[in-house]
Amino acid sequence: FPGAEQYLPNSRDLDDLIAAARTCRGCDLYEAADQTVFGAGSPGSTIMFVGEQPGDQEDRAGEPFVGPAGRVFDRALEAADIDRELTYVTNAVKHFKFTRAAGQKRRIHDKPSRTEVVACRPWLLAELDAVAPRIVVCLGATAAQALLGSKFRLTQHRGELFNLADDGDVGPERVEDVIATVHPSSILRGPSDKRDKAFDDFVADLRVVSNLLA
Ligand code: URA
Ligand code: SF4
Repeated sequence: FPGAEQYLPNSRDLDDLIAAARTCRGCDLYEAADQTVFGAGSPGSTIMFVGEQPGDQEDRAGEPFVGPAGRVFDRALEAADIDRELTYVTNAVKHFKFTRAAGQKRRIHDKPSRTEVVACRPWLLAELDAVAPRIVVCLGATAAQALLGSKFRLTQHRGELFNLADDGDVGPERVEDVIATVHPSSILRGPSDKRDKAFDDFVADLRVVSNLLA
């Protein structure tokens, strides 16, 4: 994969980034997906959330976290007293990766490879520059590994505060605090009798973030 680098504009204006990302061909994922799903939110946001990649509904809508995982995310934000309107929400990978069972219409989420995450990372770093958040919240291991390196283990370091300047493989010029929690889809995928607990734990992690900024 050539990676996204050559598609980036010089500008770090969010609208310029969004426009340029529409034509990115930094990896193969643009071919099958409907469209680039760039981050959404205000450039002055203090919190930036990073998910994995758009899902089926996000790919159709062109907006991050508007499907089932987005509804869990919205409920959790509300429970943690975080206003989504005041945050910036994006994904580690900007195109939906999926498979289809033979003869089926339904598109089934397929986890992005490390190569695809690395190919797409220039967009994520450009968003960090454009938004300059106080804190970055990684939703799930893919996002955490995109920013904190492939050796990052979510099970060991969930809820811990990192600084990109010390721990990242993304360059010393970035000083944002980073914290990782679970991906909201993991709550939907988990056993139903554990769902409430998983949701409460997710909200507790989000409260750490809102308390940090309070
Ligand atoms: N899952 C993600 O990681 N991101 C989305 O935008 C939707 C589902
Ligand atoms: Fe470009 Fe990222 Fe889409 Fe690949 S997934 S084509 S790198 S925007």
